[in-house]
Amino acid sequence: MIKHLLSIDQLSPSQIELVLHTADSFREVGTRTIKKVPTLRGRTVCNLFFEPSTRTRISFELAAKRLSADVINFTGDARSSLSKGESFKDTAQTLQAMGVDAIVVRHSSAGAPLRLSRWVEASVINAGDGAHEHPTQALLDILTIRNKLNRIDGLTVGLVGDIAHSRVARSNIHALTTLGAKVIVCGPTTLVPSDVARLGVEVADRLDDVLPRCDVLNLLRVQFERQRSGLFPSIREYRLLFGVDGDRMKKAKPNVLLLAPGPINRGVEVTPEVADGPNSAILDQVTNGLAVRMAVLSELSKAA
Ligand code: CP
Repeated sequence: MIKHLLSIDQLSPSQIELVLHTADSFREVGTRTIKKVPTLRGRTVCNLFFEPSTRTRISFELAAKRLSADVINFTGDARSSLSKGESFKDTAQTLQAMGVDAIVVRHSSAGAPLRLSRWVEASVINAGDGAHEHPTQALLDILTIRNKLNRIDGLTVGLVGDIAHSRVARSNIHALTTLGAKVIVCGPTTLVPSDVARLGVEVADRLDDVLPRCDVLNLLRVQFERQRSGLFPSIREYRLLFGVDGDRMKKAKPNVLLLAPGPINRGVEVTPEVADGPNSAILDQVTNGLAVRMAVLSELSKAA
């Protein structure tokens, strides 16, 4: 297994399969009364989050604790010496000097996890870097699809919304096409990169046209915080053309699986009735995220 997980394309199909298989076994740990295994006893995992996060940060923390690792949570806020001008590199090397074995990093700059991996001996796991990659999100999405629909190969997956700013889209496209799924990306033309077809996806600008063909719909959040002004039509127009509500769901396959990486903007990309409805696997994704992160921490520790 690889030492660092920086992008999903580092994993071969058989390595993805290994992570999913390991995650399935760790899902069982979550059903026990004592939800703990000794896999990482004596190891130290540091969560280094420079951007907001609920699901990824908490699930990596819980994953490390369930594997019996010691866990440090570090956010680049006013309580750290980053506020006194300490650099990212010096921060990383300080953590390394304390003997951490794995660093989970989220950063607004694409490539920050790669840089970090060159400064430290610890394994580095990318928990989302700018608009670049979010590899564990792709793994948990794939685990959710496979557990619900029993396969990936041959499925048609629609990625809907703000493709341009989405690290989830980039990681999902690679993982899904590698495993034999067809991916259709659909969103406002200003939020879909002009060269995205080079990644082996079909591009569509009308959701209603592609809905009937999709086995899975992955509704990406509109990333207001990463957009330059003028790229986004208006919330009303977006909702009208790309928002999924009960009426639009009638155009989809009856058993279409609905995913969203979260957090969701209720009433923008999806209405509450759909997000909380029978086709939604949004909370299954959260449960699977914990198992996937246990699997990633466990497998990478074997290479360290
Ligand atoms: N999907 C995801 O990365 O969610 P958080 O930002 O809450 O971690």
